[in-house]
Amino acid sequence: MSQSTIESKNKKEINNGKAPAKETILSPRFYTTDFEAMENMDLSINEEELEAICEEFRKDYNRHHFVRNSEFEGAAEKLDPETRELFVDFLEGSCTSEFSGFLLYKELSKRIKAKNPLLAECFAHMARDEARHAGFLNKSMSDFGLQLDLGFLTANKDYTYFPPRSIFYATYLSEKIGYWRYIAIYRHLEKNPDSKIFPLFNYFENWCQDENRHGDFFDALMKAQPRTVKTLSQKITIGGSTFTHPLFDYFHRFRYFLNNLPLTSKLWSRFFLLAVFATMYARDLGIKKDFYSSLGLDARDYDQYVINKTNETSARVFPVVLNVYDKSFYGRLDKIVENNKVLSEIENSNGNKLSKTLKKLPTYLANGYELLRLYLLKPLESSDFQPTIR
Ligand SMILES: [Fe+2]
Ligand SMILES: [Fe+2]
Repeated sequence: MSQSTIESKNKKEINNGKAPAKETILSPRFYTTDFEAMENMDLSINEEELEAICEEFRKDYNRHHFVRNSEFEGAAEKLDPETRELFVDFLEGSCTSEFSGFLLYKELSKRIKAKNPLLAECFAHMARDEARHAGFLNKSMSDFGLQLDLGFLTANKDYTYFPPRSIFYATYLSEKIGYWRYIAIYRHLEKNPDSKIFPLFNYFENWCQDENRHGDFFDALMKAQPRTVKTLSQKITIGGSTFTHPLFDYFHRFRYFLNNLPLTSKLWSRFFLLAVFATMYARDLGIKKDFYSSLGLDARDYDQYVINKTNETSARVFPVVLNVYDKSFYGRLDKIVENNKVLSEIENSNGNKLSKTLKKLPTYLANGYELLRLYLLKPLESSDFQPTIR
């Protein structure tokens, strides 16, 4: 999980708004998916639970929650320059990921409305919540004289394509991890009010309940085991070009068969859990470490708590989860964090691009090895892991 940067194609100064930070592979991403497959999903197995969740969304518990109070007045000026910079970074990252959720949910609700109204309504409610979260964060940025140009981001960000099933895994995890991240910060600051550097954190308790509900929605959606592969499709799209032939139908059937093998679900569960956890760990103990210190949190303890909790929660829906209790688990993640320090030292040293890349190569390979070992670590069967909840 390297932190080497990829130069953004859309890094521009925007009409007095804040230019998006240099994009790294650890930055929040924007997603798009196969909307046709989504609208054709058959959810009948779990429609009742989905309807119940939609009813919860309709109640809109946080309708009046995101209202700024007088505590915000002058709060930005109280931060010293260093903390200010760390906090603005945090605001920017959080705002972008909330907004990325908004765009995906909004687009989904719009595109599947005609054929899948229940699902479309759920996505519309979630888009409403994420827009509120992003807007509230952006308002805090304006306290610091900055603002993210969300319209610019929408038009210029690169979108990463994920098939529906991967979208479920990835968004489920990001909602649940979001819940544990927000609630952990909130509870810590409740006990240590002196570390509350900005009134925004007072809003985290109800806020994280939104994320928790969003996660529960994806939980129910995955339990509906939707058929996400179009049957009788004679089309195939490779690199943006679409080809049509009756034989492609067999390809889709085969893909559907492979996708529905229990082993496939287990392998994907492990992949997504590891990808999300390793990315967060590398980022929080690397570039974001000082931000957590400014809140009086130890980034390592905080991340391990959040990962353990998210892993535990995921056992409700994933067939297997990671063995985070094996001592090699965090040992290997720590090794990756150490390796990343070496990588950034090489990046900041003198020398041309080629020599730097050659110097980095062994460390990249070492990181790849650690990730592979983490992936191969025997997982925990969810049924054994959390029998009380299941
Ligand atoms: Fe959110
Ligand atoms: Fe959310």
